[in-house]
Amino acid sequence: MSKTMTDETMIVLVTGTPGTGKSTVSEILKNKLKIPLLGVNELVVKEHLYTGVDEDRGYKVVDLDAMCLKLNEVIENLEGGSLIVEGHLSHYFEGADLVIVLRARLDVLKKRLKTRGWSDSKIQENAEAEALDICTFEANEIYGDRVNEVDTSDLRPEEVSDILVDIISGKKHFPVGNVDFLEDMLL
Ligand SMILES: Nc1ncnc2c1ncn2[C@@H]1O[C@H](COP(=O)(O)OP(=O)(O)O)[C@@H](O)[C@H]1O
Ligand SMILES: [Mg+2]
Repeated sequence: MSKTMTDETMIVLVTGTPGTGKSTVSEILKNKLKIPLLGVNELVVKEHLYTGVDEDRGYKVVDLDAMCLKLNEVIENLEGGSLIVEGHLSHYFEGADLVIVLRARLDVLKKRLKTRGWSDSKIQENAEAEALDICTFEANEIYGDRVNEVDTSDLRPEEVSDILVDIISGKKHFPVGNVDFLEDMLL
């Protein structure tokens, strides 16, 4: 049987394409569940877990092995406590109990990323990653049926966090494949 919050420890990964709402929703979730939250982006910067910077595309090249080692260390130091880990690379860490992939329709995602002042090419690259289910695919390879996909497109962050509470407590399961934006890309 899979773990639920009634178990002692629960390590939950919240992943998804940038702009799907991971940081916003995880912050609400942390307050609802009263368990700590770790942002992978912040951890990568703080602990220098990158090998360089991709100047053309404007992001850090994360050292995934170092990231996973550091996450292991953080979890060991929890001594049995639960943790939410959020970030678009979080699903590369293999030591969690549950993975939630946040999803957003391409029009919604593009709008959210535009407000960050990102270039059109960077926005397009992320929209394509979303259409092609990259995060879900990668998470599924490691976590199989412990992966949930939640379409956030028409929900407020608060509503998304309520769904996540239900998933974490084992009340709901949103299996891989329930979200599909591939047709969006062809429009
Ligand atoms: N469910 C939602 N509905 C509307 N806007 C949202 C939702 N989730 C996030 N946002 C907004 O979208 C932007 C990106 O959210 P953020 O949490 O930073 O995404 P991520 O951490 O996945 O990159 C923010 O401006 C945030 O306020
Ligand atoms: Mg974020």
